[in-house]
Formats: sequence, structure tokens, C-alpha cells
Amino acid sequence: MKTHFRGRDFLTLMDFTREEIEFVIDTAMEFKRFWASKISHRGLEGRVVGLLFEKPSTRTRVSFMAALAHLGATPLQLNPNVMQLSRGEPIKDTARVLDRYLDALVIRTFGQEVVEEYARYMVNPVINALTDLTHPMQGLADLMTIWEFKGRYNRVKIGYVGDIWNVCHSLMIISSIFGYEMYIARPSGYDADKRILDFVYDVSKNTGANIQFTDDVVEAFKDADVIYANTWHSMGGPEMEKEKRLRDWSGYQANTENTRVAKEDYIFMHCLPGYRGEEMTDEIIEGRHSVVFEQAENRLHTEKAVLSLVIP
Ligand code: CP
Ligand code: NVA
Repeated sequence: MKTHFRGRDFLTLMDFTREEIEFVIDTAMEFKRFWASKISHRGLEGRVVGLLFEKPSTRTRVSFMAALAHLGATPLQLNPNVMQLSRGEPIKDTARVLDRYLDALVIRTFGQEVVEEYARYMVNPVINALTDLTHPMQGLADLMTIWEFKGRYNRVKIGYVGDIWNVCHSLMIISSIFGYEMYIARPSGYDADKRILDFVYDVSKNTGANIQFTDDVVEAFKDADVIYANTWHSMGGPEMEKEKRLRDWSGYQANTENTRVAKEDYIFMHCLPGYRGEEMTDEIIEGRHSVVFEQAENRLHTEKAVLSLVIP
């Protein structure tokens, strides 16, 4: 199984089977145990990995840098503004040059087609650190967190509120592959990307997943095992229409009243950064159901798993 990952790109979870994703989580759990026990795990000694980020990042950037340091590899932060990319050098040339220096490239950018283009021109693996369409590294940490707190992969209901963008799409992909029930609360006029919808409805036919959209937050949260909130105005397109978003999404919030309908032992998740008073209240993110910092920690372990599995 392990060698099957070698050299593979990690652009979207749609490219992986349930068994492969479970193997990544098992590997991440092992790294978590090593890390907790201070057992050295420097399996990527001497390797060099580029981090090319075209959008801001705290968790993804720092967790990848820390993961690479723990694994004995060297992270190189690549600033696109000082590269010839900023003067119009084509991606296909940049990619082939970087491929000669790096063992893998981690990219955060806008279009999914950008990471796909790097992957097309590089032999070494390209890892998607967030595009507008998907955030597979977040999806893996989310799945690991659900597994740890719920103790199972099956029979999970997620009530989701927030932008239907990268994080939501990756959670929809996970939900479809693992047969979850996922209710997405959103005002009318906001819908998922067609590429994601086509995939999740197709996969759900075989896995029994049930992915629904509703304009009623209470319906989404009813009997939920997981309440998941995300910003109303993601980086990129949505943040340009922030004022409109604040109006349209007002009320689409996880708060003390509407989370009462969830299961007694529900967990509250958020990819972060979060905006108190918008998609959730301070009481919810600081409350006893919140696992958001455990979830953020799991970014480190799942990224170590991906790096150590795909780098040849
Ligand atoms: N959740 C997440 O990807 O956070 P950053 O934008 O800080 O990396
Ligand atoms: N959906 C958010 C996630 C940030 C990690 C965004 O794209 O801004």
C-alpha cells in the first residue's frame, strides 16, 4: 500500500479511495504518537520541499514548516512576489525548473487549474495547500479529528454552516466517500461547485452518503454529531463581496440556542480563522464541545503523513 503513494500528487481527495484515505489517517496517528512520545521521526532527512503561498496562511504554512523540520527535511518558503512568476514567467517553465531543485512543492493559490498545471509539468509531487475549489489537507485533519472524537468512521451527521467553498467542498468529498450525512445550511443563491456536486452525488449512490442543502440552520444541526462552522467570506472571490455576505448570511451562525438540537456529545469544529459574532458565537468556539485546537493540531500530523507517503 505504502509504495502506491510514492510520487503521487495530492491535489484533491477525489483522487483517493476510502482505503487510501484511511491509510493516511493511520499513518498520521502513528506520527501523532511519535510526536507525543518525543520519538524522533526524521524519515525525510536531506529532502527539500518548496512552499509557494499566494494567499495568507497561519496553520497550513506553519504546520508544513514544522512537519518538514520534524521529518528532517528543509522547507523553502517561496515568495511568488519576488519570483519571475510576478513578471509573467509561465507556470510550465517555473514548474519544470522547481522540479530540478525540490523533492515536492506545496502550493496555496486561487484556481484548482493552477495546482493541476504545476502537477502536469513536475515529476515530483505537488501538494494542494488550498485552492478556491478544495482544501484536501484540511479535509484530512477534519476526518482525523472526527475519528478521534467519535471513535468511528461510520454513522456521522455533520451540520455545516458557512461559505460553500474549498473547506466545505473537501468535507463534502469526505462525507460522500465515508457515507456521512451532511446538512449544509446556507441562504438561497449559494451553492456548491458543480464539479464537486457531480462527484459527491455519484459516489453517494454507492456509499449511502446523504448530502443535503437547507436554508434552516436548526434542520442542519438537528441530531448532529459534528457542528462545523466556516467563515462567510473566504479568501479570493467571496471576500470581495464581504458587505453583501454579511447581509445575506446574517443568522447563519452556530450559537447556544440552535446547537441545542444537536446530539448531547456533539463536537464543534472550525478550520479557522474564525470570526466570532459571524459564523459562530464566542461561547460556542470557547465552549465545552469545541475541538478546534485539536483539529488545528491534526494538520501537523496529517501533513507529515502525506509528505512521508508521497515524496519518492
Ligand atoms: N485552516 C487553514 O488552512 O488555516 P490557514 O489559512 O491559517 O492556513
Ligand atoms: N474557506 C476559507 C478557509 C480558510 C482556511 C477561505 O478560503 O478563506
